Amino acid sequence: MKIAISGKGGVGKTTLSAAIVKRFAQDFNVFAVDADPDISLGNVLGLPEDKILALPPIVEMKELIDEKLGGDGAYYSLNPKVDDVLEKYSIKHGNIRLLKMGAVKKGGSACYCRENTFLNALLKSLIVTSEDVVLLDMGAGIEHLTRGTAKGVDVMLIVTEPSKVSVATAKVIAKLAREIGVKSIFFVANKIRKEEEIQFLKSNLEGEKLIGSIPFSEEVLDMAMGKSVDDVPVFNAGIENIYQELLKYQAIN
Ligand SMILES: Nc1ncnc2c1ncn2[C@@H]1O[C@H](COP(=O)(O)OP(=O)(O)OP(=O)(O)O)[C@@H](O)[C@H]1O
Ligand SMILES: [Mg+2]
Repeated sequence: MKIAISGKGGVGKTTLSAAIVKRFAQDFNVFAVDADPDISLGNVLGLPEDKILALPPIVEMKELIDEKLGGDGAYYSLNPKVDDVLEKYSIKHGNIRLLKMGAVKKGGSACYCRENTFLNALLKSLIVTSEDVVLLDMGAGIEHLTRGTAKGVDVMLIVTEPSKVSVATAKVIAKLAREIGVKSIFFVANKIRKEEEIQFLKSNLEGEKLIGSIPFSEEVLDMAMGKSVDDVPVFNAGIENIYQELLKYQAIN
């Protein structure tokens, strides 16, 4: 299963990505792809800072493969079970493999075209068996959301806070995702403080699939200072629900 996480800036995409990756990693091999130019998924996952900084972006892998294969674009050879290229371009941490998509965006460069093209090829080539899951933290921009990405992604998980602005962005993303052919679009509510906020989201997202809600938690906020969320029960209960919903989806697809 290949899952992309998206949503307005600051809604909690990276926080939820990391938690979902960790949950999946209890039962599956997970490729966690940091497609956010801010490169923070690895940090939130608790991987060593020096390793994250030293990790080459996957776009450089393209050059290496082109060189190796004579540039015929045969990325299917990237089957991680038989190819060691991935070793160099990922940090392995238990069942998790972190890959980072890009270098930090250079001033004035308007698009990640090269990165995107390769990301799409990579998504197609990461051979996903029923024991493998790919999760992409897409970052706030929707520039990564191209038809190519859509083909490589099974589920778009859109995170939203209980606010009009966040819901409006979530809907724009959902519309775009549908237009480019993403198969399944699910919503997740984050930073919920009271029942009323769930009702607000339910009525504003009528007809959409809201598969879970995560409470606002001061302890999650402390993660910014490096604290791990592993021991925040309310947060983990919410993640468990989302995980179970995704498993149900996988079972019928
Ligand atoms: N459930 C929660 N309760 C409290 N704080 C939260 C919760 N989820 C996320 N946060 C906090 O919200 C802030 C933004 O979270 P995060 O970085 O995951 O968002 P993001 O959507 O990835 O942001 P960006 O768009 O910049 O990539 C962080 O300080 C994080 O700790
Ligand atoms: Mg983020």
